[in-house]
Amino acid sequence: MVLISSLLLFSAVAVAVPAPTPTPTPVKSHDHGNHSTTAEKNKPWNAGAVPQYPIHESCNATQRRQIEAGLNETILLANHAKDHILRWGNDSSIYRKYFGDRPSIEAIGAYDIVVNGNKDGVLFRCDNPDNNCELEGWAGHWRGENATSETVICEMSYHTRRYLTTMCAMGYTVAGSDIATFWAADLLHRLYHVPAIGQLHVDHFADSFEEVIDLAKSNKTESTRDSETLQLFALEAYAYDISVPGVGCAGESHVDEEEEDVPENCHTHDGGVLHCT
Ligand SMILES: *[C@@H]1O[C@H](CO)[C@@H](O)[C@H](O)[C@H]1NC(C)=O
Ligand SMILES: *[C@@H]1O[C@H](CO)[C@@H](O)[C@H](O)[C@H]1NC(C)=O
Ligand SMILES: *[C@@H]1O[C@H](CO)[C@@H](O)[C@H](O)[C@H]1NC(C)=O
Ligand SMILES: *[C@@H]1O[C@H](CO)[C@@H](O)[C@H](O)[C@H]1NC(C)=O
Ligand SMILES: *[C@@H]1O[C@H](CO)[C@@H](O)[C@H](O)[C@H]1NC(C)=O
Ligand SMILES: *[C@@H]1O[C@H](CO)[C@@H](O)[C@H](O)[C@H]1NC(C)=O
Repeated sequence: MVLISSLLLFSAVAVAVPAPTPTPTPVKSHDHGNHSTTAEKNKPWNAGAVPQYPIHESCNATQRRQIEAGLNETILLANHAKDHILRWGNDSSIYRKYFGDRPSIEAIGAYDIVVNGNKDGVLFRCDNPDNNCELEGWAGHWRGENATSETVICEMSYHTRRYLTTMCAMGYTVAGSDIATFWAADLLHRLYHVPAIGQLHVDHFADSFEEVIDLAKSNKTESTRDSETLQLFALEAYAYDISVPGVGCAGESHVDEEEEDVPENCHTHDGGVLHCT
């Protein structure tokens, strides 16, 4: 029931991109009023909203479709991560694994801006303007000081990035596989680099799965704004709740799991959520 309602909630929210209502045409009149002021007043509050992440004209039809599908999955992944936290908070052992005892409000916001934030100030392009795609193993990059709002996607991405339907298949585990296996998490990472989304607040504080877990255990304020933590929590919550319900594919962490104190009226599902009656 919980799963069903969260799925329903999710599908309702995933497409809930604010649709700008049509801008009213200025009223033609023979008075001497200021027409543009009248038009300004009649504009909807969210006039000019950008509901989808912009993709540059340098991307051809198939590249555009893949990036767009990837970004749609980023929204799906981030939205589910937010829903999981909103439902379970720190009753979720997945939450505590990645965010420790930290308050959840910052992570909720970090996911929500990706889903519901205005999507200008972001541009994905395919023309390799900095020549970094020539570098061995580069699947894409943030343009940094050359253009802070821009992200380049390189050829390698189209050959290697997977869609979320293959989550937990082909040997993938959250702890044991490359964090950039899926378009969804890879593009989430790339969005956090762009100031319009990451606000120069989400950053890299941990550099590996183990460091992410250590950040959570040491109750560091950085965990709820760490790029890798936000990616890994979202992947594990999606795997456990959606892909293989109640099982997921957390995989081997090289860090010993601490024994959890389970209250008498509660029980834990392996690697998952604490259920209380
Ligand atoms: C009408 O209002 C706009 C916006 O306030 C202003 O820029 C413009 O100069 C005004 N035009 C006239 C004819 O008063
Ligand atoms: C788009 O470019 C890619 C190279 O990244 C190429 O493989 C693909 O065939 C092109 N698609 C179209 C529709 O031209
Ligand atoms: C991505 O999502 C948008 C908005 O829901 C939809 O219009 C578009 O068709 C989707 N694109 C792909 C490639 O799935
Ligand atoms: C969970 O969060 C609540 C509210 O912030 C806090 O009082 C409680 O100590 C937290 N519990 C755990 C196990 O972190
Ligand atoms: C910015 O452009 C220069 C010159 O093309 C290039 O060497 C550098 O790697 C670029 N920076 C990034 C972050 O891509
Ligand atoms: C972690 O930090 C929170 C908020 O700063 C605090 O309430 C909590 O007691 C801390 N937990 C531990 C185990 O130190």
